[in-house]
Amino acid sequence: MLKSKSVLIGVCGGIAAYKVCEVISFLFQAGADVRVILTETAQRFITPLTVSTLSRHQAYTDADFWQATHSRPLHIALGEEADLFLIAPLTANTLGKLTYGLADNLLTNTVLASRCPILLAPAMNTEMWEQPIIQRNWQELQQDHRYHSIGPGSGLLACDRVGSGRMAEPAEIITKLQSLAYTQGHQDFQGKRILISGGGTREHLDPVRFLGNPSTGKMALALAQAASDRGAIVTLVHGPIAPESLPISPNYKLISVVSAEEMEAVIMSYLVESEIIIMSAAVADVKPTDYSNHKLPKKELPTELKLEPVTDILAKLGTLKKGHQTLIGFAAQTGDIVKPALDKLRRKNLDVIVANPIDQPNAGFGTNTNKAVFIDGKEQQKIINSCSKLELAHQLFDFIIK
Ligand code: CTP
Repeated sequence: MLKSKSVLIGVCGGIAAYKVCEVISFLFQAGADVRVILTETAQRFITPLTVSTLSRHQAYTDADFWQATHSRPLHIALGEEADLFLIAPLTANTLGKLTYGLADNLLTNTVLASRCPILLAPAMNTEMWEQPIIQRNWQELQQDHRYHSIGPGSGLLACDRVGSGRMAEPAEIITKLQSLAYTQGHQDFQGKRILISGGGTREHLDPVRFLGNPSTGKMALALAQAASDRGAIVTLVHGPIAPESLPISPNYKLISVVSAEEMEAVIMSYLVESEIIIMSAAVADVKPTDYSNHKLPKKELPTELKLEPVTDILAKLGTLKKGHQTLIGFAAQTGDIVKPALDKLRRKNLDVIVANPIDQPNAGFGTNTNKAVFIDGKEQQKIINSCSKLELAHQLFDFIIK
């Protein structure tokens, strides 16, 4: 999603500057053309040599701004070339300058000379971040459609305090940049309430053993990210997901459940307020008839498991949905993916179904990429070739809005 994009990064003077090195390195590996501006104080934390080595381009500083050797003014050239602009870490000082349109260094002049979306990743001590004047500036900037924000999250800060003000992690910044590269900042789902289910459910036999499936929740996390990056108010109901896969400072609500029954209860409680419902969860079809509250000793384990069906949540939603609601299901299939998906689309009264193969390389459970066929209520199909799950999620939202 970032291949051949021109990404400009402004680094301000904060300890989180060291984390930006990882962002630069990833962007380069993703095929982006990365240019970096270091403010004077940023150079106290990371050096131009670090940045130029990672980005394979000269690191720009205020000294370059005042050089008479450029064919065009540096801030104009950098600003015009950028497809995306990241400012990380955004300090209290630069936040104040951006709020008031001040331009007293290369970074702030380039902001004013550019037109692309700008992603702001603030980082500061909790007292500083919570100052009313800082919050006022921050809120003010959010009104400007050019600016997009990520974080700050909570955690251990360099001042030994645990609180808000911690810069978003590099992986989260990258994901947000990927979304921005796709949407160019358009908020076409602004204010829409979207309910998403994801991950696999577990049907326990006792507190230790369960019937489950290999779903990791990556597709649902990508859907939640893409939708909230397009302005939606998102609730993600998910089965057990590895903690390292979960975002640290998500801009959507996460509700964790274990069984299909718990998932059904949460989904039903959000149904009325939701305009779009996407069931990407790998929900169990059956559960053990008997459940033991204590761990069964090996010798007491049944030799045959008695099973009973669980509610088909999607089918139930298909009977309950109102005219203004859009219902989307997933059909993870082996072999021919379209025919069974079409059957589910009709049987469960869906508006769209995403048929995706689970027996092909780089698609299905646990992978970072996926491929699919989207089918709508008129049975029109769109084939999505292998791409990242985030890109597939954005393609799905394009399909839905059409
Ligand atoms: N689903 C659900 N509740 C269930 C099982 C499935 O809501 N108890 C949803 C899934 O989230 C997915 C869709 O139904 O969106 C398709 O799931 P799948 O298991 O493929 O559907 P089935 O109707 O059970 O089809 P099959 O007969 O092929 O198993």
